[in-house]
Amino acid sequence: MKNNDFFKIKEDLSLLGIKTGDDILVHSSFKNLGGVEGGIETVIEALLSVVGDNGTLLFPTLSFSTVNPEPPINNPVFDVRNTPSCVGAMSNVFMNFEGVERSLHPTHSVAALGARQKEYIQNHELDNEPVGENSPFFKLGKLGGKVLFLGCSTKSNTSMHGVEEYAKAPYVLSENTRHYVIINKDGNRTEKDYYYHYIHQRGFAQRYDRLENIMNFQRGNVLKAECAVVDCEEMWKVGSEKIKSDPYYFVEKIE
Ligand SMILES: CC(C)(COP(=O)(O)OP(=O)(O)OC[C@H]1O[C@@H](n2cnc3c(N)ncnc32)[C@H](O)[C@@H]1OP(=O)(O)O)[C@@H](O)C(=O)NCCC(=O)NCCS
Repeated sequence: MKNNDFFKIKEDLSLLGIKTGDDILVHSSFKNLGGVEGGIETVIEALLSVVGDNGTLLFPTLSFSTVNPEPPINNPVFDVRNTPSCVGAMSNVFMNFEGVERSLHPTHSVAALGARQKEYIQNHELDNEPVGENSPFFKLGKLGGKVLFLGCSTKSNTSMHGVEEYAKAPYVLSENTRHYVIINKDGNRTEKDYYYHYIHQRGFAQRYDRLENIMNFQRGNVLKAECAVVDCEEMWKVGSEKIKSDPYYFVEKIE
């Protein structure tokens, strides 16, 4: 596992400002790394090694593409044990690493491993919106976390949905709810109604890349992948203030 790519990835992550004790949530494209000796496991081991025992590694394990009670999907059931993530191969490999816990949410779960994993994962089931105040995305803003875009666009920023929900952006949530079934790690089943994102249906496309116009992103490469890192506390503050003054700043109308 500890091959040349492992050490090169660690070095590249350090140059991006990621250090021991950090809590890092990773949006990823594995292919943009350009081939890694040892595959996805090498990348995850390098990330875990950089944040160390006092840090926490998190991956979004979103499941909106397979869990939706409405046609054409017709599947209201989220099973934390085996519902796949729809946001990349790395997130699917990570959630099966030993010791990883995954939060309970039908469409916007997160997997975590490390010092504060329980704090991030617990109580997510209390929310009734996608990225609410009990979601790990929100907690990253409170606990001094960072988001790493590993070879993918800063448009893939789920935390910004949370910022939109928190700042009550007028386009973000549905008026009605959807009914979901949630199965926890012990196989126990609960049912619950959730509001969902209603952005595209209102004719808007997301422009979370505009966050780069109003705050600092650390930029660099990990192997061949172009990467960016953003501080969550600042992102929530700057993003929500922007929405309050200019509610449609992070979306654009689809022609
Ligand atoms: C969409 C997106 C994931 C596509 O990236 P990608 O690099 O093409 O795809 P992945 O990261 O899934 O990597 C796929 C590769 O992983 C490898 N892989 C796939 N499954 C694997 C597994 N179970 N074990 C090991 N390796 C695996 C394969 O090499 C695969 O390539 P192949 O399909 O050519 O065989 C990426 O562009 C992106 O947007 N990422 C961010 C997503 C996100 O977080 N969105 C949040 C807002 S909704």
